[in-house]
Amino acid sequence: METTGGFFTGLQTDHNYLVSRLSRAFRLLPPRISTEKKQFCQLPLEGLRLQFKKMSLFASYSEHNSIDQEAVIKSDRAYELGAIDWDSLGFSLTPTDYMYVMKCSQGQSFKKGELQRFGIIELSPSAGVLNYGQGLFEGLKAQRKQDGKILLFRPEENALRMRMGAERMCMPSPTVEQFVDAVTATVLANKRWIPPPGKGSLYIRPLLIGSGAVLSLVPSPEYTFLIYVSPVGNYFKEGIAPIHLLIDTEVHRAVPGGTGGVKTLGNYASVLKAQTTAQAKGYTDVLYLDCVHKKYLEEVSSCNVFVVKGNVISTPAIKGTILPGITRKSIIDVARSQGFQVEERLVAVDELLDADEVFCTGTAVVVSPVGSITYHGERLSYGNGEVGVVSQQLYSALTRLQMGLTDDKMNWVVELN
Ligand SMILES: Cc1ncc(COP(=O)(O)O)c(C=O)c1O
Repeated sequence: METTGGFFTGLQTDHNYLVSRLSRAFRLLPPRISTEKKQFCQLPLEGLRLQFKKMSLFASYSEHNSIDQEAVIKSDRAYELGAIDWDSLGFSLTPTDYMYVMKCSQGQSFKKGELQRFGIIELSPSAGVLNYGQGLFEGLKAQRKQDGKILLFRPEENALRMRMGAERMCMPSPTVEQFVDAVTATVLANKRWIPPPGKGSLYIRPLLIGSGAVLSLVPSPEYTFLIYVSPVGNYFKEGIAPIHLLIDTEVHRAVPGGTGGVKTLGNYASVLKAQTTAQAKGYTDVLYLDCVHKKYLEEVSSCNVFVVKGNVISTPAIKGTILPGITRKSIIDVARSQGFQVEERLVAVDELLDADEVFCTGTAVVVSPVGSITYHGERLSYGNGEVGVVSQQLYSALTRLQMGLTDDKMNWVVELN
């Protein structure tokens, strides 16, 4: 298998960057903006607090700060944080220090990538991605554990999904190892942007785009794999809260034989109208039905859907029109391990009528309980405004696992340092 180490170019030569491929410990001194500042130190905690108070450019956080006093006293580790208000993080872009870039020509395979300063990229106006939408994206998160360690959740699943999508979109793709190494390098290079425990996560956005110039409809002659990251807040700030969905019977997200099952860019542009129209009417999002029978549940604009009835949890089977969510796959396993019977099958819209609970899954929301679904003008409500027991139970189980708070029996969590 090919391997890729992250390295740095386009940086001032007086910066001392050190990358160790073998240990996967990518260490680097701070980016240009901060070279004057002291960034990271291992000192007794009292000393650290005093030191950080004097820093003007950067906020700081010593692990367990205000979370677990005992652990603070025991700990001798601290980490630097970017200067933003960590309590008011939403889900919008906060520019960070570095992005990862790797290119390859059509018919070749990706070889070597590099970390570059985060910033504007140049593309030919006739790039395949701009003209014909030849592109894919992924989404995953890095979390800061209470002991300061950094955790990823099943990154190889994102790598595999990108490979599957690349095959469908006629693009070369990084190997699983290249993908995971690149994610690791990007996260470590931007680690001051990983929110403190409990404040959110570092959202990681890998892109694979046709960056070469084309005029006629042909695959792009060049491809760029790029990763950027942004700190994001917890989707639910004060515990999970129900969302409200509208079933749109006219707009369909995907067609059999199309690209609904891969994370290609056009799938998202094409739901914006339905989504914004629903949101203008007060709904959170749209739940799409299959386009052939117009009666089977597919998914929400960027989440998978589950229906709970007694001990049985059903979710639409993956058959090309639904994105195979990594949270979906994980929730199926977690639910089964908790004794639920999980069925992947056609789920008819009528089943919503007597469901006990409905919930959605995705990287951003993890598990999102559904409070109501409106179909042909009729509103079906669940849980009387409360979060369903099953949704809450599965949300807690998965978030605790992702944050390293429970034993990772499934071996899903990757620790970076
Ligand atoms: C259309 C769609 N369905 C489902 C999901 C959930 O996938 P995952 O759990 O991998 O985030 C996403 C998330 O990106 C999505 O875009």
